Amino acid sequence: MPLPVRRGPGAPSTGFPERRATAPGETAGAPWSATTRVTAKGDVTIGGVSLTEIAHRFGTPGYVIDEADVRLRCRAYRAALPGAEIAYAAKAFLCRAMADWMRAEGMSIDVCSGGELAVARSVGFPARRIIMHGNAKTPAELRRAVDEGVGRIVVDNVAEINRLAALVPIDRRQKVLVRVTPDIEAGAHPKIRTAGEGQKFGLSILSGAAGDAVARVLHQPRLELAGLHCHLGSQIDDVEPYERAARVLVGEMARIRDAHRVILPELDLGGGHGIAYLPGAGGLDLKRFANAVVTAITERAAGFGLPVPRLIVEPGRAIAGTAGTTLYRVVAVKRGGSRTFVAVDGGMSDNPRPALYGARYTVRLAGRVSREGPRSFTVVGHHCETGDTIAEDVPLPADLRPGDLIALAATGAYHHSMASTYNLMGRPPVVAVRDGRARLLVRREMEQDLMRRDVGL
Ligand code: LLP
Repeated sequence: MPLPVRRGPGAPSTGFPERRATAPGETAGAPWSATTRVTAKGDVTIGGVSLTEIAHRFGTPGYVIDEADVRLRCRAYRAALPGAEIAYAAKAFLCRAMADWMRAEGMSIDVCSGGELAVARSVGFPARRIIMHGNAKTPAELRRAVDEGVGRIVVDNVAEINRLAALVPIDRRQKVLVRVTPDIEAGAHPKIRTAGEGQKFGLSILSGAAGDAVARVLHQPRLELAGLHCHLGSQIDDVEPYERAARVLVGEMARIRDAHRVILPELDLGGGHGIAYLPGAGGLDLKRFANAVVTAITERAAGFGLPVPRLIVEPGRAIAGTAGTTLYRVVAVKRGGSRTFVAVDGGMSDNPRPALYGARYTVRLAGRVSREGPRSFTVVGHHCETGDTIAEDVPLPADLRPGDLIALAATGAYHHSMASTYNLMGRPPVVAVRDGRARLLVRREMEQDLMRRDVGL
């Protein structure tokens, strides 16, 4: 599918496709997906399909995925890092179509559970392009990964080294990466920082735990140590922590060469690449990232007399995030103290991120033109919790009323994948749009689905 990469005149290129302004006053760089447009009648279209029509056909709340945006982002990564392996982090959002798009775009996939592995394999995603993660992989998950022929399994603790080795058939060697923590604090919220000391992921370089795990893997004849892995955290806008991590990891590879006489061919820097959720916010500059990280690895490897390892990156949010838009129907508008609340028909069950991380979003009216100016509203959900907020203090037309449709931008990553059935509300459908057509990828979860699991009466 030919997809042009658009660019605003004179705008510095970040490596990602430019977002178009979607309404007067909304500047390019606003977080809407690549094909989002606003019509004269105030309707919003994505992939050439009207959001009003999608709400009518598939109901609300619902997730809309802009296939072109996903594919453009895969291509931007492959263009910015031509020598690297780009492994999409499936935890951000996975369904069979998404796995198929990743296959078609030449991406690898990182999975962190048997469920994600099963979905990827169900569409014939090549096992050797799958990287298996997890800090608590069960024996069953390890067995499944080995049986499927997963390309690399990322060791996160010492216990799984023997367990894994025992599962590998006598005539095979399983490639593994060792996940290390380089003692770097990065990530938009403490709950999504994963490379410092004293958190549950990886093996500490400082304490010697990483070195110990490396030695143990090297002593297992059925395991092949392909390289080191680290994942710093999530929603990181700054290139510098990645540069630092790259230097630390290449240094560790040199130490391993000196201690064990092995040269590790791969260096996986994980994901965590930030995106814009608000107008004017930057996200990680992909070109700067590529340049800085490749330079750091190349220089550092040369300094140690090491061949340059092959870089692997694992973006999740930066592939799926901006492609997603959530559609809600306004149920009620009311004043409470100094605030005016807009209550919608979804909430923390389809988007737990504000409650978990204090995440903020861009929201707009879809489906009609308002003659009124903007007023500050707080968009809240349907759930029985005060913390069930979707967007705090956001501008929306002053005449917003029940029945209106509102759209929330940049909800493609960690929304459907983190959705729950809290208050026994079924999870929303996922609808893909492309070239004027809407296609249901994941259907709405109905009361019958919820009831079917309840087998205890
Ligand atoms: N690789 C590994 C090993 C990871 O643990 C993760 C994310 C990624 C890659 C992809 O990170 P990304 O590029 O998407 O930032 N629920 C949180 C994010 C948790 C991320 C967990 N690990 C949120 O909604 O912000």
